[in-house]
Amino acid sequence: MTSHSPNTNVLTPSSSELLNIVTRFAADLGTMTDLTTLGNCIIQELCRAGATTHGTLFLLDREHEHYRRANMVGPTAPMLIPPTLAVSHPLPHHLLATNRIMTQDNSAEDLQETDSVAGARAAMEAMQATRIVPHLIKGRLIAFSLLGAAVPMAGETELTKSTLAALAQTATNALDTIVLYEELHRSHTLMKRTDRLKSLETIAGGFAHEIRNPLTSIKTFIQLAPERKDDPQFIQDFSKVVLDDVYRIERLIQEILDYARYMEPKLTEEDFNDIVASCLYFIDVKADSHGIKVEKELASDLPRVMLDRQQIKQVLLNLLLNAMDSMAEAGGRLRVQTRKLEKPGGKVWAHIEIEDTGEGIHETNLEHIFDPFFTTKHESGEHEGTGLGLTIAHQIIQEHRGEIRVKSSVGVGTTFIVSLPALPA
Ligand SMILES: Nc1ncnc2c1ncn2[C@@H]1O[C@H](COP(=O)(O)OP(=O)(O)OP(=O)(O)O)[C@@H](O)[C@H]1O
Ligand SMILES: [Mg+2]
Repeated sequence: MTSHSPNTNVLTPSSSELLNIVTRFAADLGTMTDLTTLGNCIIQELCRAGATTHGTLFLLDREHEHYRRANMVGPTAPMLIPPTLAVSHPLPHHLLATNRIMTQDNSAEDLQETDSVAGARAAMEAMQATRIVPHLIKGRLIAFSLLGAAVPMAGETELTKSTLAALAQTATNALDTIVLYEELHRSHTLMKRTDRLKSLETIAGGFAHEIRNPLTSIKTFIQLAPERKDDPQFIQDFSKVVLDDVYRIERLIQEILDYARYMEPKLTEEDFNDIVASCLYFIDVKADSHGIKVEKELASDLPRVMLDRQQIKQVLLNLLLNAMDSMAEAGGRLRVQTRKLEKPGGKVWAHIEIEDTGEGIHETNLEHIFDPFFTTKHESGEHEGTGLGLTIAHQIIQEHRGEIRVKSSVGVGTTFIVSLPALPA
């Protein structure tokens, strides 16, 4: 870098100030997580380094094919700076072609005075800018910063120029990262919504299928009743069947409503062990009467978790009841273990394993157990299943950004594993 000119204007930052700006800026960028804060910081620091009192950051909006005025600092008349500039406007064109900080003099010294250069220069004048800094990465102009001229340019040094260039490069990298991150976040939200719509579609289809059988039996009863009205045995038996069918439809409707009414989890900081213990309390009596031995191992160092108590209870209860159902005939052992788990990368999870020694799940069924209405619990068992238990559990765990997995082998037993991201210690 060239040494500091002795003829520096008072308002131009000194070399150590400039160095400070660059160092602090690079450090600050690491703490920024949203585009608005980052944009403000960038334009402020560029103004400070360039000794200008106002500036505007334009950001590429790919969807609308324009650059939009994202952040402004200092006293700029907003009428001077348009809210958007089309991607095809000569100014972004020129910046993309040269990838250089545009100043009033270098725009004049450009080799050929093409239409695009003239257009860019006209725009620069109209917006009363003295410098325009391109933010270009991987051949794309993702943004540009427009700096005004409140300070006389006498103090312009090589150092100022290289500082500006260094800041611009750091800013460009940070902008690129945050823009990518925000796009990723948007597509993730979209994917989640699509997932949900897809499963609602499956549910609607499944629901129609599920209520067809009970409806047929109700219809048959109504059709036969007039001619069999004097057969008390028939009336008595069939009434019972019909009533059961009505209950089944009612239960299905309730489940679907619960699923459709599904709300964003209301997260509170919780002791996961506490929730596990309260679920185990519920199933204790039932386990006892079925000859099922319950073993619990709750880790004392389990990290605290942000979760929706009601929803997580619903998940655990369904897993515990499924495990008990699988052992209802022959009894067995239900082991519930919580653990602190640190995955590679340092992320900490609260982890629970629910292991039974029940009948196990056939390999062909294993890939369907999370599907809506998949159930093997038909009339034969102790209770009839709706097959929505695991679908809902999966949905809830996903909304908590956790994971649910299963391991099973027929005749040996099944283990469900749930991990929830822990709060930072
Ligand atoms: N621990 C387990 N052992 C053996 N099979 C299991 C176990 N957990 C789930 N399954 C299988 O997965 C199927 C789907 O479970 P899910 O909880 O979604 O519905 P369900 O238990 O059948 O009905 P519901 O939850 O409405 O009572 C079960 O019918 C069963 O076949
Ligand atoms: Mg179930």
